[in-house]
Amino acid sequence: MPDAPHEHETVLEVEAPRVKFGRGAIAEVGPEAAGLGLRRVALFTDRHVGRLPLVERARASLRAAGVDVAEFDAVRIEPTDTSFREAAAFALDARVDGYVSIGGGSVIDTAKAANLYATYPAPFERYVNAPLGDGAPVPGPLAPHIACPTTSGTGSECTGITIFDFEAHDVKTGIASRRLRPTLGIVDPDATRTLPATVVASSGFDVLAHALESFTAKPYTQRLRPLTPQARPLSQGANPYSDLACVEALRVLGEHLVRAVDDASDDEAREAVMWAATLAGIGFGNAGVHVPHGMAYAVAGLVRDFVPREYDVDHAMVPHGMSVIVSAPAVAKFTASAAPEKHRRAATLLGADGSAHDDEVGDALAAALARLMRATAMPSGLRALGYADADVPALVEGAFAQQRLLGNAPRAVGREELTALFRSAAAYW
Ligand SMILES: [Fe+2]
Repeated sequence: MPDAPHEHETVLEVEAPRVKFGRGAIAEVGPEAAGLGLRRVALFTDRHVGRLPLVERARASLRAAGVDVAEFDAVRIEPTDTSFREAAAFALDARVDGYVSIGGGSVIDTAKAANLYATYPAPFERYVNAPLGDGAPVPGPLAPHIACPTTSGTGSECTGITIFDFEAHDVKTGIASRRLRPTLGIVDPDATRTLPATVVASSGFDVLAHALESFTAKPYTQRLRPLTPQARPLSQGANPYSDLACVEALRVLGEHLVRAVDDASDDEAREAVMWAATLAGIGFGNAGVHVPHGMAYAVAGLVRDFVPREYDVDHAMVPHGMSVIVSAPAVAKFTASAAPEKHRRAATLLGADGSAHDDEVGDALAAALARLMRATAMPSGLRALGYADADVPALVEGAFAQQRLLGNAPRAVGREELTALFRSAAAYW
């Protein structure tokens, strides 16, 4: 062990999640739950997902395996500390010994939080990332959790991170711990057949951002070595293992994202994007995201009246993937000088010709991103989400609070840089 925290990191940790992937995989949830020794599980969905045939297949599989189910379908899309608390109270009341979540990132993240607070009850701030919360470590193992994503987005089944709106602070933040990572992910692409185009596009760009940000994050060797192995962060920075997953995720998205958005019946493309989501989840679970996600939490948290098309919501909200991707081209121009080769590679995987000189690769990557956004009817920038110049200071403060994410960027990011980034994210076309 080093005796002073001034040496650079030399060790990387490979966090390999356990995942089952493929059509029909959902039918294995019952035997898997029984195999984990579970007798009564909390099944988390939302009201829309709960009506899908996929969830009925999961219920039948659990029943057939002799596993009792207590169902919670009141998950809020874009959850809050209040909705997390309600979910934990439900799990405590229901006296369950395990968790199954079927839905998008909001559902899986809610199950993670319910599992945490039902297993180790505490004042809510205790485990929340500093500086908004205490950032206290999770005291021990949680109950088993089988996570089954139905959107090809968050990769939450692969990560130890849960994200929510902290209402009192009007900003998104999260809880991060290896112990939050689901015991098993079951990824059945069947669910994506029924998704509307806007949902596929937004969640697909979340995947793309996970892969791109993890790939271009500050390399783990540039972080200071922690004093104890336990103190090594979950988001350790770009490393050879996460790079493998990110490059393949970007390649698959470059080839399939527009097709998957355009045509709900294109099973091959929608399945490919789902696979990219799992790969990107592995990448981001090991490396961590950075500036676009940090900016996104402010963009989503400060929303006034934007209501997305094709989303089944009754409140103003910016879908997560949309809130992330609107800043990604601006950030690509900013981060390119720190790792030109990686930015060139990413641009090429997303359809650029790869001929850009080092001082142009940021523009090339930004253009490749904007081209994909335009082809899939994403907003052209922050202005299209209802933000004006006058909102920039508040957006900067919201993003500046995301120090864990900003610290994972390949260049230093302070208020001045954030101000310039939000300004240049106003409109791309
Ligand atoms: Fe994300």
